[in-house]
Amino acid sequence: MILVTGGCGFIGARFVLHWLAGEPVPLYGGGFAVRDWLHVDDHVAALVAVLEHAAPGQSYHVAGHQTMTRLASIERPVEAFRVETRDRPGHDRRQAMDDSKVRSRTGAPRASLRVLLLGGHGRLGSAIAARFGPQSRALADGRIELLAPARRELALDPKAPAEAATRWYARWRPDVVVNCIALSDVDRCAREPVSAAQLNAALPAALARAAARSGARLIHFSTDYVFDGALRRPYREDDAPGPLSVYGATKLDGERAIADAGCRHWIFRISWLYGAAQSNLSAMLLEPASAGRTIRLASDRLGAPNPVQLLAQEVTDCVARDVLPGAAPPLAPSGLYHLSCHGATSWYDFGVAFVREAIRTGRLAAARAPKLEGFAEATLARPAQRPAYSALDPSRYESSFGRVMPHWEAAIATALGRQ
Ligand SMILES: NC(=O)c1ccc[n+]([C@@H]2O[C@H](COP(=O)([O-])OP(=O)(O)OC[C@H]3O[C@@H](n4cnc5c(N)ncnc54)[C@H](OP(=O)(O)O)[C@@H]3O)[C@@H](O)[C@H]2O)c1
Repeated sequence: MILVTGGCGFIGARFVLHWLAGEPVPLYGGGFAVRDWLHVDDHVAALVAVLEHAAPGQSYHVAGHQTMTRLASIERPVEAFRVETRDRPGHDRRQAMDDSKVRSRTGAPRASLRVLLLGGHGRLGSAIAARFGPQSRALADGRIELLAPARRELALDPKAPAEAATRWYARWRPDVVVNCIALSDVDRCAREPVSAAQLNAALPAALARAAARSGARLIHFSTDYVFDGALRRPYREDDAPGPLSVYGATKLDGERAIADAGCRHWIFRISWLYGAAQSNLSAMLLEPASAGRTIRLASDRLGAPNPVQLLAQEVTDCVARDVLPGAAPPLAPSGLYHLSCHGATSWYDFGVAFVREAIRTGRLAAARAPKLEGFAEATLARPAQRPAYSALDPSRYESSFGRVMPHWEAAIATALGRQ
C-alpha cells in the first residue's frame, strides 16, 4: 500500500540544530513566505488515522491551522526556549538615554549597517558609491557605513573566488554586500569564457555561500542578456531564460548559484545603462567634439535604456530601508527582480529622443547637435550574439519594493538634470 498525504510547512530538526550551534538559520524567501505550520506529531497522527480508517484511492491534506510567515515560525520556538528570570533589584525595565548633549558635539551615532561595495569603480558601482558617499548620512539618518575597496585592495585572484570571498567577509564584516564586479564586455566574454565563468558565476557563488554563513544580505546584478529575445513584450522574471552568449550564460549561472546558496539576497536584472562616467553614449551626444558629427546607432535591437544614476538611487534606497525600522512596505523577500525603466526602444530612437530633450532643456544648442544615423547591427560580425529584444518588465520590483519606475523616455529628463 502506498500512502500519500500533503503537508505544508514543518519546523524541522535542521532549524533547531543550526540555532543551537549558533549558526545562521536558513530563511528561505527572506522569511516572508506564508505557510501553514504543522507539528510533526500531528502529521504522524494524521498518517495513522488515514492508515486505519481511509478508503484506498483517496488523497488527504494535513494542515496545522497555524498560518504565519517563516520569520514568525522561527520567533515562536525561540520564545518557547526562553527562561524567565526575575530581574536583579534596581534594574529598570527600559534603559535609554537622551544623548542630544553629546551628539551636538559628536554628530550622529556610529553607522549601524556596514555595506561592502565590490566593483565600486565600474559604471554602476561608481554611481552607487557616489550616491552612498556624501549623501549616506541623509540616506538612513547617517546609519550606513560604506566600504568601497579599490581593486588593488581586493586582490582578487579570479581562480580562487572562495578564498577571496572568505577573506573579504572576515576583514570587513559586512551586513550587506553589493556586488558590481563582472566581466561585462559581451564580446570579451566570448573570447575569454574561462574568465567570464570565474567572475560572472564562480565569484557570485562564493559571495553567496559566505553570505549564507555570515547572515549578510547579498545584492547582485544580472542582465537582460539571459534571454534569447524571441518575445516581443517586456520579459518577466518567470519567463524562461535562453542566453545567446557566454556573457548571458555565465550571468545566469551566477544567479542560480546565489539562489541555491540560501543566503538573504536580491538579484536585480538590469538592462542597457547610460549616463556613467565610462563608455557613456549620452555624454558623447552632448560633448562639443560631437557637434555636427554623424553618430551611427543600432536601430535593429530593442531594449530599455536606464540612467545609471536612477538605478543607483533605487539600489541605495533599498539598502537604506534595511536600517529604517517600520519602513513601509516591509523589506522585499529574497529573490530575482527586474529593475528597469518601462518600455522598449532602439539605441537609435533613444539617441533621437535624448538629443531632442537636451535641446528642449537648453543642455544642447540645436546648431551643435550631432547628426544621428541608424544602422542594422546584425550586419556586423561580432564575437557574441545579442538578443534582438530584451526589455525587462519591472512590475514585480515595483510591487515588492513599493516603487514606481518611469518610462525610459521620461527618465531622460531626470538623467539630463543629473549629468
Ligand atoms: N553596463 C550595462 O549596460 C549592463 C547591462 C546589464 C547588466 N549589467 C550588469 O551590471 C553589473 C555592473 O555592470 P557595469 O556595466 O557597471 O560593469 P563594469 O563597468 O564593467 O564594472 C565592472 C567592475 O568589476 C571590476 N572588476 C572586473 N574584474 C575584476 C577583478 N579581476 N578584480 C577586481 N575587480 C574587477 C571592475 O574593476 P575596474 O574598475 O578596476 O576595472 C569594475 O569595477 C554587472 O553585473 C553587469 O553584468 C550591466
